[in-house]
Amino acid sequence: MLLSLTKLEPCLVCIGLVLALGDSVEGAIHRRKDTKGSQWWENTIVYQIYPRSFKDSNNDGTGDLKGIESELDYFVDLGIETIWLSPIFKSPMKDFGYDISDFNDIDPIFGTMKDFKDLLQGVHERGMKLILDLVPNHSSDEHEWFKKSLRKEEPYTDYYTWRDPSGFDENGEPIPPNNWVSVFRFSMWQWEEKRQQFYLHQFVPGQPDLNYRNPAVQKEMENVIRFWLELGVDGFRQDAVAHIWEDDQFLDEPLSGKPNTNADDYAHYQHIYTTNLPETRDVLKNFFNVFKEVGEADGYPRVTMLEVWGDPAEQLKYYNCSNFPFNFGFLLLENLSDPTKILATIDNVLNSIPKELTKNWILGNHDRWRVSNRGLNDPLIDAFNILTLGLPGVTVTYYGEELGMTNNMNISFENTVDPSGCNCGSDLYLTEFCSRDPERTPMQWNNQVNAGFNNGAKPWLPINSNADELNVESQRYDSPSSHWNNYRIMANLKRSHPAFASGEAQTQLDGNVLAVARTSEVDPDSVFVILINFVNTDEEVDILGDFHSSKSEATVVLGTLGKNGHDIGDVLQLSSFVLRPFETVVLQY
Ligand code: NOJ
Repeated sequence: MLLSLTKLEPCLVCIGLVLALGDSVEGAIHRRKDTKGSQWWENTIVYQIYPRSFKDSNNDGTGDLKGIESELDYFVDLGIETIWLSPIFKSPMKDFGYDISDFNDIDPIFGTMKDFKDLLQGVHERGMKLILDLVPNHSSDEHEWFKKSLRKEEPYTDYYTWRDPSGFDENGEPIPPNNWVSVFRFSMWQWEEKRQQFYLHQFVPGQPDLNYRNPAVQKEMENVIRFWLELGVDGFRQDAVAHIWEDDQFLDEPLSGKPNTNADDYAHYQHIYTTNLPETRDVLKNFFNVFKEVGEADGYPRVTMLEVWGDPAEQLKYYNCSNFPFNFGFLLLENLSDPTKILATIDNVLNSIPKELTKNWILGNHDRWRVSNRGLNDPLIDAFNILTLGLPGVTVTYYGEELGMTNNMNISFENTVDPSGCNCGSDLYLTEFCSRDPERTPMQWNNQVNAGFNNGAKPWLPINSNADELNVESQRYDSPSSHWNNYRIMANLKRSHPAFASGEAQTQLDGNVLAVARTSEVDPDSVFVILINFVNTDEEVDILGDFHSSKSEATVVLGTLGKNGHDIGDVLQLSSFVLRPFETVVLQY
């Protein structure tokens, strides 16, 4: 049933696949019908680019904006609607861009402001949206605000959190104000000789925390938001917002009791005085008002999504100060191969987040091991891409997940650049939650020099040794049931059918087979069911009468094993069919 894929006809393939699903098509990509009153972002497919690693146009070893611009048609072809860029602002790169020395300018390593405007225009011309990364919690220690604060120059003196030492040790060294430990290990306090005080940094010392008790700081950040939104940016992901506010009693944090941790480890403590304090949400509400104001003023609604790590109950608290907080449910699971845990994770969100609020599903990001390295057999990578695309709400895909890119675990400690990895030391740096270099290696475009990332200059992180086989070109053109093609088919289903636009889904686990059904009030005759076989054996399925349907047969609209399993167009009897080992199918009936 699948067309044969050739290099010259990517769009024809796309049209062919969608036509095979029985839809009318205007151009290769067509839009999902919006439900009444819905906003562009409520069901969007977001693709996270880590700009250093995507495409290096000037062959200096680091990815850049021109490189991203040169690949914009890639996103159109894949079915991506929204691109999110990790930070591209001026930065000394102590935390690779999450330490910003000028919030209103582009770092030369990525290009110029003109390059940025060209990119934005290119994105908009293709009907897509562009989201940037706002880092409100901290600046770089090379930001002018910090330099002036250090010198106690007004009005900057209190732009950061400064504290006197709690005493001096027998060598005359200042003792930090309390036991607070930073996310990347060691004290959250850094001594400054010049000011004879400590400053607070929840991340590395090069990232001093901004002091939001000072209303001037809030205004500064609101101006930053306004600056980019008024330039035409469609929204922001906001970084590390749970860390915005600290308790002003500065009491020691209690121990967590977690095994295998020591006094220098973040996990050693319960962060009751430094994360998720209620005042954080007041700050975020002020930011949210800026998004709404700018959107109302020019008629283009903007989106803001928050990086908050917590269960759905915790996430719920952040819906009144953003469009949605991230749902890291799948990232928080140690192992993705247990269907009961997957079901519980999904149901927890579906049952806790009301239908009218926007849900979202994330598989990976620049801070966590790639999904392929978290206990999955290769074919199940498709299952998770399909789930994140098929569940209600926003899909967030980290670059390379559409290929099933893997961690590069061959980076020596000497070549490790991530501060978190360096702080873990040579014995532990490659354990999960330490170095983030393995999941940040360059995008694997083809089997040419440096996997097509650039023209041969040494990349800032080494190319993964599997790039000759695992790359866009081979998956896009040579293999109809590759991860890439399965991703694209599912993205197009999501974009094309009202069943994927509502806030609801039904789930069911029968033995090792997980089912997720999507239905639509607009089109009650059309039911889509995703079925995933989590084990390495054939599994018999009977879903006759399930999901309020009286139909007895269904058509396969996506089968991850292609000809080795159920292929597009096959008709199945709902009372009895067999899923192949690790197979995922999407049925329409
Ligand atoms: C969260 C970001 O995702 C991470 O990469 C960064 O290191 C910290 N926040 C600090 O900004």
